[in-house]
Amino acid sequence: MNRLAGKVAMVTGAGRGIGAAIALAFAREGAAVALAELDIDTANATAERIRSEVSGARVIAVPTDVTQSAQVKQAVEHIEASIGPLDVLVNNAGINVFCDPLTMTDDDWRRCFAVDLDGVWNGCRAVLPGMVGRGRGSIVNIASTHAFKIIPGCFPYPVAKHGVIGLTRALGIEYAPNHVRVNAIAPGYIETQLTLDWWNAQPDPKAARQATLDLQPMKRIGQPEEVAMTAVFLASDEAPFINASCITVDGGRSALYHD
Ligand SMILES: NC(=O)c1ccc[n+]([C@@H]2O[C@H](COP(=O)([O-])OP(=O)(O)OC[C@H]3O[C@@H](n4cnc5c(N)ncnc54)[C@H](O)[C@@H]3O)[C@@H](O)[C@H]2O)c1
Repeated sequence: MNRLAGKVAMVTGAGRGIGAAIALAFAREGAAVALAELDIDTANATAERIRSEVSGARVIAVPTDVTQSAQVKQAVEHIEASIGPLDVLVNNAGINVFCDPLTMTDDDWRRCFAVDLDGVWNGCRAVLPGMVGRGRGSIVNIASTHAFKIIPGCFPYPVAKHGVIGLTRALGIEYAPNHVRVNAIAPGYIETQLTLDWWNAQPDPKAARQATLDLQPMKRIGQPEEVAMTAVFLASDEAPFINASCITVDGGRSALYHD
């Protein structure tokens, strides 16, 4: 409780899944939270749920498409005028674009990079002048274990996620003298709609789910709340010397060579 008291945070893609869990965890820890989301109906519903679960929570939902830099800038201005200067940004919005490299269309490539890499930069670009000016801030980018591991047929998502790690490291170093920390989280398989959609797109969804579970050292996949706890830590004053870094939340899967 109150690990983020007095802080103002923006979480992109916070209508559902990992982003919604982060927004709830932040509110529970005392932060005022803005849910910046493409699907404003889910953002409003999640904001309402947070208000009902966390007494006195300060939560707003802001329609935002992270691929549009001007819209992200406007969202940041609106949030700062409504709930105060941002201390924390979580760039969480992301989409799966899983293709075969040579049959992928140009549109698939652009759609992936627009959300998964440009979207992260647009968020950073919009909050950094304020954070640098105030001499404090924490940015948390949600990458993936695809940022350092490859699964065939999942192109170009891992390319964009590798870029998120590069962006995290570059900005973390660039703004360290200004006391703005930039870190990433690399989740493994987490139980969200994104993962359910992927299983459901396989010829045998039940078998696909079991195959995923069998790959996990803990014989289970992660929950959004388990990523949210790491985001709270990185956003808080408990991690003042963690910068330009990445914390993997995958139950050990990416350390496994093979069974
Ligand atoms: N679920 C997993 O197993 C997993 C694993 C590793 C990394 N991740 C990453 O975690 C993040 C969240 O994933 P999730 O599983 O919660 O996904 P999700 O699909 O459940 O939620 C993503 C949210 O982002 C929003 N969004 C999509 N495009 C947007 C845009 N252009 N602007 C603003 N909002 C947008 C969606 O409306 C949705 O609410 C993503 O970056 C994803 O790549 C997920």
